[in-house]
Amino acid sequence: MTTISLSLKGLGKVFETDAMETHALKNVDLEIEKGEYVAVSGPSGCGKSTLLTILGLLDNPSRGEYVLDGENVASLCRDRAAEIRNSKIGFVFQSFNLIDELSVKDNILLPFKYSASKPSNEKLNEKVDEILAKVGLEHRKDHKSNLLSGGQQQRVAIARAIVNDPSLLLIDEATGNLDSENSQQIMDLIESLNEAGTTILMVTHDPVCAARAKRTLKMKDGMLIS
Ligand SMILES: Nc1ncnc2c1ncn2[C@@H]1O[C@H](COP(=O)(O)OP(=O)(O)OP(=O)(O)O)[C@@H](O)[C@H]1O
Ligand SMILES: [Mg+2]
Repeated sequence: MTTISLSLKGLGKVFETDAMETHALKNVDLEIEKGEYVAVSGPSGCGKSTLLTILGLLDNPSRGEYVLDGENVASLCRDRAAEIRNSKIGFVFQSFNLIDELSVKDNILLPFKYSASKPSNEKLNEKVDEILAKVGLEHRKDHKSNLLSGGQQQRVAIARAIVNDPSLLLIDEATGNLDSENSQQIMDLIESLNEAGTTILMVTHDPVCAARAKRTLKMKDGMLIS
């Protein structure tokens, strides 16, 4: 069995609008092994979120190769991309992307909403309880998510990302607006997920967070420079 979780070769992404072309990613090469914990940092606008979006199969690259678990996934149709995403990938967005009107529980279960193989309600309930215990929010299951603190919302976003037991977890700024204590709790949680075998790629601007990863990459102007 291969030990490579994902590999990118000559990956490029161009955004075209009426007025201009933005080369958000230029010739990115990257290999990440199963079980790795990698941090990516770099200045605002250098392409970090774009890279995660492509790795998470939320968008296709303009050119280049992306192989995930041995499958070429650079230009999948939406359905197949969604299938892979649902079965293997967890995504924590830069701006939590929780749905305000939904309870914590329903936010966490969103990944199952369009999933073909939806477990029974009883199983889903058990799953939510287990995940909430993991992120320390047992007492907030039925709260509306917009009534939670920033750190709690971030933990719900992580809970949602891991509810389908992904082998690859992509995190865009896990601790953006959090104080150092909350930030440390989130980093402990991420580390425990990695220790349990999840491959993690985390974008962060915080050197303290980046230092907790086992490998750090720097991005600049759409390129990985180390
Ligand atoms: N959908 C889009 N359409 C057009 N341009 C885009 C789009 N998404 C991103 N860009 C551009 O691509 C470049 C990279 O953006 P990206 O969001 O990846 O940066 P980032 O490194 O995540 O920045 P930040 O640290 O501020 O989150 C930027 O110049 C941005 O304006
Ligand atoms: Mg970003």
